[in-house]
Amino acid sequence: MTATERPATTTDAGIPVASDQHSLSLGPDGPLLLQDHYLLEQMANFNRERIVERQPHAKGGGAFGHFEVTQDVSAFTRAAVFQPGVKTEALIRFSTVAGERGSPDTWRDPRGFSLKLYTEEGNLDLVGNNTPVFFLRDPMKFQHFIRSQKRRASNNLRDHDMQWDFWTLVPESAHQVTWLMGDRGIPRTWRHMNGYGSHTYMWINAEGVKYWVKYHFKTDQGIECFTQDEADQMAAVDTDYHQRDLWEHIEAGEFPSWTLHMQIMPFEDAKTYRFNPFDLTKVWPHSDYPLQEVGRLTLNRNATDYHSQIEQAAFEPNNAVPGTGLSPDKMLLARGFSYADAHRARLGVNYKQIPVNAPKSPVHSYSKDGAMRITPVSDPVYAPNSYGGPQADPSRTDDGGTWHADGEMVRTAYTLRAEDDDWGQAGTLVREVFDDAQRDRLVDNVVGHLLNGVKEPILLRAFDYWRNVDKNIGDRIEQGVRAKQDEKDPKAAEQANPARSSMQAKA
Ligand code: NDP
Ligand code: HEM
Repeated sequence: MTATERPATTTDAGIPVASDQHSLSLGPDGPLLLQDHYLLEQMANFNRERIVERQPHAKGGGAFGHFEVTQDVSAFTRAAVFQPGVKTEALIRFSTVAGERGSPDTWRDPRGFSLKLYTEEGNLDLVGNNTPVFFLRDPMKFQHFIRSQKRRASNNLRDHDMQWDFWTLVPESAHQVTWLMGDRGIPRTWRHMNGYGSHTYMWINAEGVKYWVKYHFKTDQGIECFTQDEADQMAAVDTDYHQRDLWEHIEAGEFPSWTLHMQIMPFEDAKTYRFNPFDLTKVWPHSDYPLQEVGRLTLNRNATDYHSQIEQAAFEPNNAVPGTGLSPDKMLLARGFSYADAHRARLGVNYKQIPVNAPKSPVHSYSKDGAMRITPVSDPVYAPNSYGGPQADPSRTDDGGTWHADGEMVRTAYTLRAEDDDWGQAGTLVREVFDDAQRDRLVDNVVGHLLNGVKEPILLRAFDYWRNVDKNIGDRIEQGVRAKQDEKDPKAAEQANPARSSMQAKA
């Protein structure tokens, strides 16, 4: 492009500006003039460029692509997006949980896997992680959990003592913590990890028959992870490694993909299953509910404007299209409020009018006005009305999925069943899924994490926590920590924990 072909700079109002270089002043050595509205606009807009970052999951990146159904699962859902052969535009955002917007991509943390499918029946959002479970089964603990993973009030530092204090006082965290401290706790890239809906959701077929389902997006690139050392080194040289990797592969035409599989449970099974199938700290074993292939998600287009397309993307688990729904999972139900609320606070009440969040299907809602409303609204502005305004059509909706419920008002996360416990599935992961080398790395990872600032008596609680997961792993973690403490400062180690000698003797 020659200089003469370049567009002339304008103000945001489209008015050509006189200079990109110099402000208007009274004589070359004189004061600035207030009528230089272009200078004022530059300064004012700059001061307002930052929007508040997401509370959790602040650091992330994403891309566009499509989801294509390759199998026939119409027996289980009538959702248009899951009918054979249907191809739907998609947006994905990957993230870490605890770090801020500038934090390293390779810190040990679960990774967010947020998917928006722009279906012909409205947006379907699956806001999952790269793990099939979560730290908690009751939303009352979520805010406390996130604070324990972020920064202390006093010195603004992240603090492993705070993290292990919380985890060891909340044993339902054990399955997710075991997963996190294992190899998959640091994916090599976003392309090399799975995505899980994690929660139990509902599917409803054309006859109205309901199923409980779990979404599993399995990476077609294969699972690859970083060891702790590799991740630490990468954090030192490239904080944006995962974002860069995704961007570069899509730019190079190497489009990553994931195959969606579902676990599908008949509606009635949930009543008698051996543990509560809505408890987010548990998986459904594949042997009970095998994976059934549905289709493929492919990412093939990078964002062209990170701020408007990724930073302002707003995902919310309550966006369930007809043929899909929520479930009695208390965490999922709370998320149904929390996300839209976060978006209203972070982006404004009309965040769904930001192009990346707007559905590709027609919107006929009665929402009206508010800051930054852009889409024109027409009369009538109320329902019911006699003037041809939109009218709810019950045959076109499943109302987000419904089920029977009654009972006293209580503060209890689920009635306990035979196999409802905090430790069992974490133990299965350690003993039956990890091999010897993975168990060794698990022990090393936990020992390293605990030695990074965890104090007595939380250390002692951590050893018991791991012994509850697996006796042998717990003993090895304790021995590993004590050996390192002795190496560093034997006197201090003895003073900090006088019980240690007797424990070492026992070991
Ligand atoms: P399976 O033997 O059928 O499945 C084991 C699962 O573990 C596979 O999905 C495998 O993923 C995954 N896995 C392998 N290595 C690791 C690792 N280092 N960290 C985390 N996951 C790993 O057993 P079950 O279905 O009976 O489940 C046994 C345990 O496996 C569970 O307690 C749970 O901790 C874990 N798991 C179970 C999942 C489920 O939905 N049932 C999903 C993921 C983990 P892949 O096939 O991709 O290699
Ligand atoms: C982000 C709340 C549990 C995955 C967020 C945000 C909030 C939040 C407020 C920030 C949203 C924003 O500003 O855009 C909660 C609450 C939970 C919960 C209250 C439990 C009660 C979970 C679980 C998962 C999850 C169980 C995964 C299975 C995510 C992801 C993001 C996120 C992936 C990032 C979304 C994005 O990419 O924009 N969460 N969360 N959260 N959460 Fe949760």
